[in-house]
Amino acid sequence: MIILDGKKTSNDIKEEIAVQVQSIVSSSGRVPHLSAILVGNDGASETYIAAKVKACQKVGFKSTLIRLDESVSEEELLNEVEKINKNSDIDGLIVQLPLPKHIDEMKVTEAIDPKKDVDGFHPSNIGRMALNIPAFLPATPSGILELLERYSVETSGKHCVVIGRSHIVGSPMSILMARNNNPGNCTVTLTHSRTSNLKEITKTADILIVALGKAEFITSDMIKEGVCIIDVGITRVKSNKTKSGWKLLGDVNFEDVKDKCSFITPVPGGVGPMTIAMLLQNTLLSSKKEFSS
Ligand code: GUN
Repeated sequence: MIILDGKKTSNDIKEEIAVQVQSIVSSSGRVPHLSAILVGNDGASETYIAAKVKACQKVGFKSTLIRLDESVSEEELLNEVEKINKNSDIDGLIVQLPLPKHIDEMKVTEAIDPKKDVDGFHPSNIGRMALNIPAFLPATPSGILELLERYSVETSGKHCVVIGRSHIVGSPMSILMARNNNPGNCTVTLTHSRTSNLKEITKTADILIVALGKAEFITSDMIKEGVCIIDVGITRVKSNKTKSGWKLLGDVNFEDVKDKCSFITPVPGGVGPMTIAMLLQNTLLSSKKEFSS
């Protein structure tokens, strides 16, 4: 069994990006710039945003964090987005999700200029991804492709089963694994909460991508020998074995399945760190204006 080490791979990617940033800065004097909007103070969102800002510093990007109060109106938020859309110094904009209930997330996502949509959530980028033309790819699915590629996991002709149909992970993942690309060219089954015979389907997977948010849901009786497992879950549970009093669990029971897998991502240190690396890569792409979306 081979561990798909997202922590190491993401550090490799960040080093590659830092080298490119140095050359962009010395040739043009311009510094790639990511802007992030955080509404309210949800604990998980604070942690993710802090990690994104720190990663920007690490590779030499400029970053701007705009904090808005939980009570901000939809109109005020849309005004902030519009200001950033028009600011030619800024290459990428992310609005951290989830947003408070009184704000329409889709309306905000659609307001972001697709050319600055480094999260790849705008309908224009989702459509371009589905058509297999250059687009900003959503960071988590893109990070999974990068891991599969860098570890030379064979995907062509394989049966890929995706669990979960979220807009951020499951749905784009299913599209990407079916595209005529490498990684890709899979026969894809997208499963979700209404799937009735899940275990029968997961047992036929050559590649199993699990993004349903239920700690240790996948056990060894649900998989076949030699499967490659990608675990996107992160559930925080209390633990008396760690200094912080918390530990992170994936959607897969790692100890139970590990001897039956060919490849597996650990939690933590698997998919999570890759997400941030791919956000940086999208921002770098945007700064180079290599494609127009
Ligand atoms: N919330 C959870 N994941 C993400 C992400 O990748 N981007 C944004 N903007 N919000 C998120």
